[in-house]
Formats: sequence, C-alpha cells, structure tokens
Amino acid sequence: MDFDLTLRAKEFASKDPFPMKGFGPMEWWVGNAFMAAQAFRSLLGMEIVGYSGPETGVRDRASYLMRQDQVQFIVTAALDGDHEIADHVKLHGPGVKDVGFLVPDATAAFELAVERGATPHLQPMVVENDTGRMVISGIKAYGDTVHSLIELEGVDPRFEPKEDKVARSTGLHAIDHVVANVELGKMNEWVGFYEKIFSFTMLKHFDDDAISTEYTALMSKVMTGGNGVIKLPINEPAAGKKKSQIEEYLDYYKTPGVQHMALSTGDLQTTVADVHSRGIETIYVPATYYPDAKARLSEYDLDWGRLEELSILVDKDDDGYLLQAFTKMLQDRPTVFFEFIERRGATGFGVGNFKALFESIEREQERRGNL
Ligand code: FE2
Repeated sequence: MDFDLTLRAKEFASKDPFPMKGFGPMEWWVGNAFMAAQAFRSLLGMEIVGYSGPETGVRDRASYLMRQDQVQFIVTAALDGDHEIADHVKLHGPGVKDVGFLVPDATAAFELAVERGATPHLQPMVVENDTGRMVISGIKAYGDTVHSLIELEGVDPRFEPKEDKVARSTGLHAIDHVVANVELGKMNEWVGFYEKIFSFTMLKHFDDDAISTEYTALMSKVMTGGNGVIKLPINEPAAGKKKSQIEEYLDYYKTPGVQHMALSTGDLQTTVADVHSRGIETIYVPATYYPDAKARLSEYDLDWGRLEELSILVDKDDDGYLLQAFTKMLQDRPTVFFEFIERRGATGFGVGNFKALFESIEREQERRGNL
C-alpha cells in the first residue's frame, strides 16, 4: 500500500473513526432503465436530472440520475445481454446494486476500509468535467451489493445534466434508512462487518420474540454510523411455523440484498395520499390495529380517521412519535419495496408496529402462495 495514502487514511480517521456525510445515490440495476426511471418519476415524483448512454459516449449501458430533495437514485440497464448488469438482473431481478455513501475523502475512505479487511470493488478514480468533480471508490457488501464511497464537488460528472419538467414532487426529503436481508445465521457476521470496516455501532436489537407473528419470525439489528446520518438495519430469518418474509426474499433475490429503503417526508398523510393517487399501493393495515395504537399514543392529537383511511402505522419511543407506510412490491419478484416515514422526534424504527406490519405482509405472502 502507498505510504502517503496510509497517512492520508490515518488523517481521515483522526477525529471520527469513519467520517460519512450521508447516503449517496442508490443505484438500481434493472432490465429497462428508461421504463424504471419513468416509473420512479411518475409514481414517486423523482426528477430525472442526468443521463448517460450511447448519446453521451457510454456504449454499454443506459443510466438515469434521479433526485428529489436529498434522495438520489441511479437507474441503470445494460445495452447487451452479455454484460454483468444483464447477468445481475437475470439472477436477482431488478434490485439495488449499490448503497452509496458520501464521504469527505473517497481515496482515504477506500484505503481505510480495505486496510480494515473490506474487499475492493472499485479502486479510487477521478471523474471530472466542467460541471463537477467526483472521486469514487467502492467495496463489496452483502450478497452482490456494493457500497460506493463518493466524494463530490458540484454536479455528478458521470451524467449529462437534464432538466425535468414532468416530475411533480411527492414531498420526499431524504433516505432515512436502507435495510439488508441476510441469510440465516449470518446476522452477527454482518454486524461485525459494519463495526470493523466503518466503525458503525448497533442502535437497537429486536430478537425473535419482539418480531414474531403466529407463523413466522425474524431478527433485526440496526447499525448506525456517520454520527447517525447512516442507518442500516439488518434482518435475518428466524425459525417459525411457516416461511418468513426474509426467506421468501432470499428465495427470489437468490442472495442477500436490499429489502427496503425508507424515504422521509415532512407530511406523511399528504405523501401517502399523493402516491396512492399515482398508482402506488401500500400495505393494508386492518381496522383492528387502530384502537390499540390510539391507546398507545393517547398523548398525541392525531387524525386517527385519516391515518386509518391511508393505512398509516404509528409508533412512539422516548423521543417522540413516527408515522410509517410500506409499499407493495414495485417489481414482479417479492424482493425490494419502499417505506415512507415521517419522524416527529422518534428515532426508532416502529418496533411497536412490527407485529401488525408483519401480519399484513404475511397476508400478501399468502396470496403469492409463499407462506
Ligand atoms: Fe424500515
């Protein structure tokens, strides 16, 4: 290893064990990037702000950069069947290939991560044009997923800027958390990975009892880093009478991968009503959920009729409350989905909702014949 880079890595980690500024773009690998970008635009209100493909000198793929406030997606497809993206889509279906992190120094971050045992995915490289300068590197994570480490000044130079006059915002603000599903027995390995490579700490621990229904169970641990800006819950299936939703995911995605990403909004009722009107369906919450939720959150003045109408879940912790809604699948395989979340002080993940939520998810799983 280059001696100067080691010094640089040491300097990088001198004040913070692994500085991160937030989530970077989430890159989706799909079969048809044009259509996926159109869907994210019309359904979620994501703006198409950049494009790269044959017209911009990139011969092997078409890629759209999408944005809504701080939420960034990249949607990419191969232009030929004989391509790693095509292979990825064949194996996994459409999914999240890259959970990007914004860092202050992508070279030092890479050196440090590799020194701590991470497997390189992309050596640090500089991409530059007259709109921006990016240093990007990457390491391998769970399954075929990678983490890009991105240092950016200005506009993402990998894309030709585009102005979107079609997208209408749904009020989405930022990526709140990104959830991984890993295989049975692998939870602690991945907890250890994030502790060792990125100096993340464990925020919460829900054991099988906390998250079990009559039929299935799962375990979940939440890793956090970058002074709280990065939150990565990890799920592992646990033994139950029937097949857990995590096992169903692994059956269809074939490897560990991203299960859902939560997108924050300042007004969940408006966001959910809006996405419903655009054609997104969210998981139905049964009427029996609400009397109990109302009792748990009796100190808050909420519009319970409206929350029930929109199937919005509510939970509280020591710091406040939160509202959540979960989408049904946005692709054919039961793999990745979205959560919309509005935090009113609460920093948790809605553990009080897990049972009701999982029962609702199981009703969907049952309909697919996979429970
Ligand atoms: Fe979540």
